[in-house]
Amino acid sequence: MMHLCPQEIEHRIDIGPRNVSMSSFLHILEALNLDKKHLDEYARKYHRMLLDASRKLSAFHINTERMRKHEAVIINEYDDGLVYADEDHCISLVNKEAARILQMEKEYIVNKKIHDVMAEFEKLSVILEEDDDSPKSASIYDIHGKKTVVTRIHVSGDTVNSYIYTLRGIDSIQKLEKEVRTKLAEKGYVTKYSFSNIWTKNRKMKKVIEMARGFAATEKNILIMAQTGMGKELFAHAIHQASPVRKGPFVAVNFAGIPDNLVESELFGYEEGAFTGAKKGGKKGLFEQARGGTLFLDEIGDAPLHVQSTLLRVLQEKEVLRVGGTSIIPVAVRIIAATNKDIAQAIKEKKFREDLFYRLNTFPIDIPPLQTHKEDILYILTRYLKTRYGISKRISSSAEQCLLSHDWPGNVRELINVAEYVFHASQGARQILPDHLPEVVLASETKVFQRSESLLDSSFTQISDTLMRNGLPTEMIGQLLKIIKRREGKLCGRNSLQKQLSKEQWILSEGKMKKTLKLLKEAEVILVGRTKQGTCITAKGKKYLQYISDLSSG
Ligand SMILES: Nc1ncnc2c1ncn2[C@@H]1O[C@H](COP(=O)(O)OP(=O)(O)OP(=O)(O)O)[C@@H](O)[C@H]1O
Ligand SMILES: [Mg+2]
Repeated sequence: MMHLCPQEIEHRIDIGPRNVSMSSFLHILEALNLDKKHLDEYARKYHRMLLDASRKLSAFHINTERMRKHEAVIINEYDDGLVYADEDHCISLVNKEAARILQMEKEYIVNKKIHDVMAEFEKLSVILEEDDDSPKSASIYDIHGKKTVVTRIHVSGDTVNSYIYTLRGIDSIQKLEKEVRTKLAEKGYVTKYSFSNIWTKNRKMKKVIEMARGFAATEKNILIMAQTGMGKELFAHAIHQASPVRKGPFVAVNFAGIPDNLVESELFGYEEGAFTGAKKGGKKGLFEQARGGTLFLDEIGDAPLHVQSTLLRVLQEKEVLRVGGTSIIPVAVRIIAATNKDIAQAIKEKKFREDLFYRLNTFPIDIPPLQTHKEDILYILTRYLKTRYGISKRISSSAEQCLLSHDWPGNVRELINVAEYVFHASQGARQILPDHLPEVVLASETKVFQRSESLLDSSFTQISDTLMRNGLPTEMIGQLLKIIKRREGKLCGRNSLQKQLSKEQWILSEGKMKKTLKLLKEAEVILVGRTKQGTCITAKGKKYLQYISDLSSG
């Protein structure tokens, strides 16, 4: 622009581009004696520019105002308490929730120094003493008797340097977490157990657990076989949690619980209009929902045959076709199947597809029934009482006897129910007695006792009757069994028995001796070798001998 300046002006200052008002412009034209014929045109341009700028400014102003209102609503309605302080720690903004938590009027807080407000809560001042430059710090404080998480965020940049405090009651955090967990749990998408929840003292069980842990690390299919209540579900959860897909969903489907006609649509999903009552937009099947995680096929032995065929195809192809759909959906899912049925038998009866069994059975886990590891009965019972109720009581030997002689058809599930019963029944008692056990456990103990005693009793009278009918007196039989028993460990031949018996004044012909031994053998009182190996007494024989002695002495 300097070139426009008239030559006669010697002293020039370059002020750079600058807005010039209309009146200054006129003065300049006048002072320089320049042509004013274009003035109107310049004036119009100038006005248009002004109008335009003012319109933009007003739109900008409306927008900013709207944003400020939105911001105020968002900040005010935000679930957490928010306090905003500038670099001098002066509070410029506070929302409804923060005022509620602090139990102070907003007007009282704004423009106060944060220290003055927070310092009213003795321990809260600790957060203020922390290093000003740390970007984020959080601690739990007691505010009006409620545990509250207070977080301070330091926002610093070229143009800002401020502090945002968030305040949130711990109970609301716990409630929120619970809501999320319940929602996931309702869908069955979270695992509840890990391997540490499987309790055992038994060597064989420990081996099974180690094996399962090893299988978990792979992505191969697993088949868990066990009687009811032996922890199939527990193992499935634990395997998922120890597997590479632990971060993915855990989806369980129980074939015993879904009506046959719904299994397919539940597993594979359906397209809109696939059948009457089909949801609008269709529905994802469980395979799709388990994508990137584990699908637990519980009670697989109950899966109908037509579903078994589709399952086999899905496992082979790793893709599903929704009911009524045409497009194939790929699904990468880890399968854990479980059953309490005898699958081998089901295959024989053509109720379970053999090819599906082999597909699922890449890694089999066979959990032995509780009856075969009785040491776990007392161990799980005491451990349950300790972890669930924090009590450790001695179990009296008679109660122990009852627990050990029970059959536990419901396995660990039944045992845990008994533990619950014991906890309530034994309150106030120092040790667990048979009185504190449920009827079913006591009944089985007396049943075993009575059954064995009475069974033996009646079978012993029968043996004596048969022998008597064959002309063999009980007294003589008693002598004979004593001789056989005395030679325990060594088998005695018929001749030798005959000789020794004669010493006791019982003379038997060879034929009679043969018959006696045959009858005793049939009564399972003795074992007789096929050739000349001889004879020995059985456990039942020893009891029968005791029975005879008791009879003669009593
Ligand atoms: N070894 C164990 N240690 C601790 N708890 C166990 C053990 N085994 C089973 N349980 C518990 O017993 C109960 C039954 O276990 P789970 O439901 O896994 O059995 P299941 O084999 O799936 O039974 P069902 O065939 O009846 O479905 C659960 O409460 C589980 O936590
Ligand atoms: Mg189960």
